[in-house]
Amino acid sequence: MILVTGGAGFIGSNFVRDWLTLNDEPVINLDKLTYAGNLSNLASLEQDPRHIFVRGDICDTAHVSRLLAEHKPRAIVHFAAESHVDRSIHSPGEFISTNVNGTFGLLEAARAYWSGLTGEAKDGFRFLHVSTDEVYGTLGPQDPPFTETTPYAPNSPYSASKAASDHLVRAYFHTYGMPVLTTNCSNNYGSFHFPEKLIPLIISNARAGKPLPIYGDGMQVRDWLYVGDHCSAIRRVLEAGRLGEVYNVGGWNELANLEVVHTLCDILDTLDPKASGSYREQITYVQDRPGHDRRYAIDARKIERELGWKPAETFATGIRKTVQWYLDNQAWVRDVQSGDYLKWVEQNYAARDTAKEAI
Ligand code: NAD
Ligand code: DAU
Repeated sequence: MILVTGGAGFIGSNFVRDWLTLNDEPVINLDKLTYAGNLSNLASLEQDPRHIFVRGDICDTAHVSRLLAEHKPRAIVHFAAESHVDRSIHSPGEFISTNVNGTFGLLEAARAYWSGLTGEAKDGFRFLHVSTDEVYGTLGPQDPPFTETTPYAPNSPYSASKAASDHLVRAYFHTYGMPVLTTNCSNNYGSFHFPEKLIPLIISNARAGKPLPIYGDGMQVRDWLYVGDHCSAIRRVLEAGRLGEVYNVGGWNELANLEVVHTLCDILDTLDPKASGSYREQITYVQDRPGHDRRYAIDARKIERELGWKPAETFATGIRKTVQWYLDNQAWVRDVQSGDYLKWVEQNYAARDTAKEAI
């Protein structure tokens, strides 16, 4: 049994599905179901007894402790976070609450649980913290990619909150000897990606005939990784990573945002052509993001050298699959955009909470 936090979000739901496809080991999935958590991401597991979904907040340490005592997981894989840089600029408070205080609460509950284990259960326990390349700040055009020893220099409230959580995880290893692992990954893309982020936003706006917003000059560089490859890296680090170590995870796919948007338009022109013209005509330059990092790039040689992990997808193969997924799953996009997926959660959980109160 493993405990996953944030498993109803983009990467977490891909991780849980992949995990249960590859393993028989059950998963407890603890997720608060914020706007970013969507139970329909997990619809294929609805009847699967190996998937135990629990709605809850990682900041609620007493609840986390009860779950650990009840289910006795051999590992925690921690995805839960506020993840969108633009939202962190407008309302940073939630990022500090979940990413910093929530990670702290989770570490405390995990430490108490792990301290009470003995023998093999104690030796085998792992806390894997899923983090981001944004903690390293921004690169100039000629700088080498980020390595695991690049100094931290976060520039947005989001990256600062993730940096703080990374430091807490590190401190729990050095101070308490807790068996932690940290991964710092580059930009993911793939199925079930919330359409506030660049790639799914461009696909859905393109099809809706809306403007395709490019921040600033569109020459900011990101290093894209297919979400399935991120999940395989996490599985590998969980299996064989050295305790207390950090592993950078990336796809060696540095691309300027404008190139990404052009690629999406060209794939859509082929797979779902407009009556006339190209989707590129919808590209619109808009005001830049404040403090916008110019370039991220990951040096992923450590995880390849030590753990033999390499991405399976190139950007060309992964992005085509992704566009096809969005074309095949238009009902999912519609539900997210209309907010219907939230209504379902509120109705179901409100009903359940009322029933609990009545008992
Ligand atoms: P997401 O926003 O899609 O999902 C986050 C999930 O966490 C949601 O299901 C949400 O309901 C849940 N959550 C939020 N606050 C919670 C709380 N207090 N308690 C319990 N659950 C809570 O995020 P994502 O893009 O899937 O990212 C997952 C993790 O991976 C994050 O830690 C993020 O920093 C990291 N990461 C993301 C990327 C990327 O490109 N998306 C890259 C590198 C690292
Ligand atoms: O690098 C890893 C990070 O990647 C993760 O830690 C974050 O959780 C994840 O959200 C992502 O952050 P970014 O800010 O890079 O992702 P986003 O999709 O928001 O933006 C990608 C780039 O595209 C960025 O340079 C901003 C730009 N952009 C974004 C949007 C939403 C646009 O030009 N237009 C847009 O409308």
